[in-house]
Amino acid sequence: MVVDNKGTITYVQLLKEDLGIFRMVPNGGQVPDYKPGQFITIGMPNPVENNKIVRRAYSIASHPENRKYIELVVRWVRKPLPGRLTTQLFNAKEGDEVNWIKPTGAFTLNEKMPDGSKDERRIVCIGGGTGLAPFVSYTEHLHDVGDKREIIVLHGASYVDELSYKELLTNLEYDSLDRGKDKWNFTYRASISRPEEWFNRSWSGQTGRVETFLRPKDNGKSPLEEIIGEKITKENTMFYICGWQGTIDAVMDFMNPRGFVTERKKREDGSFEVKYESYG
Ligand SMILES: Cc1cc2nc3c(=O)[nH]c(=O)nc-3n(C[C@H](O)[C@H](O)[C@H](O)COP(=O)(O)OP(=O)(O)OC[C@H]3O[C@@H](n4cnc5c(N)ncnc54)[C@H](O)[C@@H]3O)c2cc1C
Ligand SMILES: NC(=O)c1ccc[n+]([C@@H]2O[C@H](COP(=O)([O-])OP(=O)(O)OC[C@H]3O[C@@H](n4cnc5c(N)ncnc54)[C@H](OP(=O)(O)O)[C@@H]3O)[C@@H](O)[C@H]2O)c1
Repeated sequence: MVVDNKGTITYVQLLKEDLGIFRMVPNGGQVPDYKPGQFITIGMPNPVENNKIVRRAYSIASHPENRKYIELVVRWVRKPLPGRLTTQLFNAKEGDEVNWIKPTGAFTLNEKMPDGSKDERRIVCIGGGTGLAPFVSYTEHLHDVGDKREIIVLHGASYVDELSYKELLTNLEYDSLDRGKDKWNFTYRASISRPEEWFNRSWSGQTGRVETFLRPKDNGKSPLEEIIGEKITKENTMFYICGWQGTIDAVMDFMNPRGFVTERKKREDGSFEVKYESYG
C-alpha cells in the first residue's frame, strides 16, 4: 500500500522562472534512507481538480550522507499545458507542506562485476537538463565515502543559467586537483546546446547537445577521450545516462558500435556497461 508522508518545503532557489532547486524536510525531521540515483515521489493537491493529490517522481539530487534534507532540481512544465504538479510546486512557498512517498528506483551505482569483484571501472555520467540530478547525488556520495574511481560528469543544457550545479561540481573538481587524483579523481564538463543565442554569449566550452562529447573529431578521438587521455573501452568505463530518450539513443548510437550494452540488454554472463533512466 502507498503510504503518503508529510514534509515541509524549507528552501526554494529559483535559477530562472521555470527551473528551481527545492529542499524538503520530512515532518518529524527523519530523512528517509535512500541510495544515490533513486527518486522520491512528491504529492500536492491540485486546486483545479478539487484538491486531488497529484503525485510525480523526482530524482534526488542530495546524497544519503546528508541527513538534513532531500534536494530536488525541477523544471516547471508549462507547455502545451501547465504541468499538474510542477505548477503547484512553483507556486509553493518555503514553509508549505507537501506529501512524499519513500525513495525507490534502480538507477543506482553499480558496485560489483558479475564475478562478484568490485566494479573499479571509470564512471562517466551523462545528464541532460534536470537529468543531472542523480549524478549530483552520485558525486557527493562518492566524495563522502572516499571512492577512488575516476568520475566524469558531463552536463548538457540549452542555456548557461541552466547549469544548475556548476559551482558545486567545479569546486569538487578543484578538490580533486588540490588533493591529488589518487585520492579523489573527479572531472566536470558541460555543453551548451544553443550557443548561438545571445544569452549564451559568455560560453566558450563544448557546444551542442551533451552527446557531442562522444562524437569523434577529425583526429579520431572524442572530446570525452581527450578529457580522459585514453581510448574508452567496455573494459575501462561504465556509463550512466539520464535525460530525454533522445539523449540516451544518441549516446547509444556512439556506444553500440563499440560493443557497449545496457543493463536492460545485459549479456548472458550478466555483464553490461551502460545504465540509463529516461524521461520521455
Ligand atoms: C524516475 C523519474 C525521475 C524524475 N526526476 C525529475 C527531476 O529530477 N526533475 C524534474 O523536473 N522532473 C523529473 N521527472 C519528471 C516528473 O516526474 C514529472 O513528469 C514532471 O515534473 C511533470 O509533471 P507535471 O505534473 O507538472 O506535468 P503533467 O501534468 O504530468 O504534464 C506532463 C506533460 O504532458 C503535457 N500534458 C498534460 N496533459 C495534457 C493534455 N491533456 N494534452 C496534451 N498535453 C498534456 C504537459 O503539458 C506536459 O508537457 C522525473 C520522472 C521520473 C519518471
Ligand atoms: N529521471 C527523469 O525521468 C527525469 C529527470 C529530470 C527531468 N525530467 C523531466 O524532463 C523534462 C525536461 O527536462 P529538462 O527541462 O531538464 O530538459 P531541457 O532543459 O529542456 O533540455 C536539456 C538538454 O536536452 C536537450 N534536449 C531537449 N530535447 C531533447 C530530445 N528530445 N532529445 C535529446 N536531447 C534533447 C536540450 O537541447 P536543445 O537546447 O536543443 O533543446 C538541452 O541541451 C521535464 O518535464 C522534467 O520534469 C525527468
